[in-house]
Amino acid sequence: MRNLNAAITGIGGYVPESILTNEDITKLVDTTDEWITSRTGIKERRILKEKHAGSSYMGTKAVEELLKKTHVDPSEIDALICSTTTGDYILPSTASIIAENCGIKNSFAYDLSAACSGFLFGLVNGATFVESGRYKKVIVVSTEKMSGVTNYTDRTTCPLFGDGAAAVLLEPTTENYGLIDSVLHTDGSGFPHLHIKAGGTAFPATNETIAKHQHAVYQEGQAVFKAAVSRLVEASEEIRDRNNLKVEDITWVVPHQANMRIIDAVMRTMKMPIEQAMINIEKYGNTSSASIPICLWEWEDKLKKGDLLVMSAFGAGFTWGSVLLKWAYTKE
Ligand code: UT7
Repeated sequence: MRNLNAAITGIGGYVPESILTNEDITKLVDTTDEWITSRTGIKERRILKEKHAGSSYMGTKAVEELLKKTHVDPSEIDALICSTTTGDYILPSTASIIAENCGIKNSFAYDLSAACSGFLFGLVNGATFVESGRYKKVIVVSTEKMSGVTNYTDRTTCPLFGDGAAAVLLEPTTENYGLIDSVLHTDGSGFPHLHIKAGGTAFPATNETIAKHQHAVYQEGQAVFKAAVSRLVEASEEIRDRNNLKVEDITWVVPHQANMRIIDAVMRTMKMPIEQAMINIEKYGNTSSASIPICLWEWEDKLKKGDLLVMSAFGAGFTWGSVLLKWAYTKE
């Protein structure tokens, strides 16, 4: 039996103002609004346009809002975990830039890379610190500038991605709220189907890697789609069954926003009404690890203390998982 639970006690977020619509995409590649909408559910996405602004720009804004809303002084933060696969630099970490920008000086900060599942991996990581009793205020921020790794001449990927960030504060509680259970997985055999080939140490930048768009996301859509549906269903059912939950016990499903057809399939298989899923893919597209916390940020006003949330994600690696969380507050 654990004495301490780790509860989310606040949330902040940020999405850039600039909107890229499906209509705009039809001017870049051979596609239609009808194809993108019917195959993905996406109508528009946000794009960070500020010059030389990377993921830390959005992560900073999300953390600033979080600190303001929770009335927490930056000096009180013990740890900051930044989940991103679109960091500003190879080094230093995007977490260290965000911490500096936000005046977080008494904390350690580091990046965590688990692609679209990064928020769930970060949440479990941060919650473990809090449950240990050693750290009292831990921030998990997910920030992704997907536009920086998208090839806008590739019609199979460029309609999918958008930019955004959101951050949560984790604090200890002796009550029965917060993170209850988690199922996290990695299967590295997914590499060929979803990766960014160049820009790391295996294939550093050359004229050829740039000419071949190898610094952008490469995805074999159908293979990833099939794996995403089966793994998301498996993980969601595992967490539901081992916690003896009935469909009616779950208040919200918070799915990674990669494709509306994937969300539909998961909800149908779980025999849950689609109205119980948080869905904003039509506005933001796939913001990778930021998609789940951006949903929480947008739904914060509707969430009530005691609501049970199943959050599920799937991404490159492959990585996937589900987290069961009991919401700890009702916003006034
Ligand atoms: O977040 C990380 C995890 N990622 C995911 O979960 C994404 C999973 N995959 C998907 O969401 C879908 O596979 C996509 C949205 C990427 C693609 O949808 P799809 O229904 O699997 O399409 P497809 O790749 O099977 O392509 C069907 C057809 C092809 O034409 P042919 O070969 O049938 O003539 C494509 O060339 O659609 C064509 N196509 C397009 N047509 C118009 C592909 N992209 C486009 C496009 N506009 N943008």
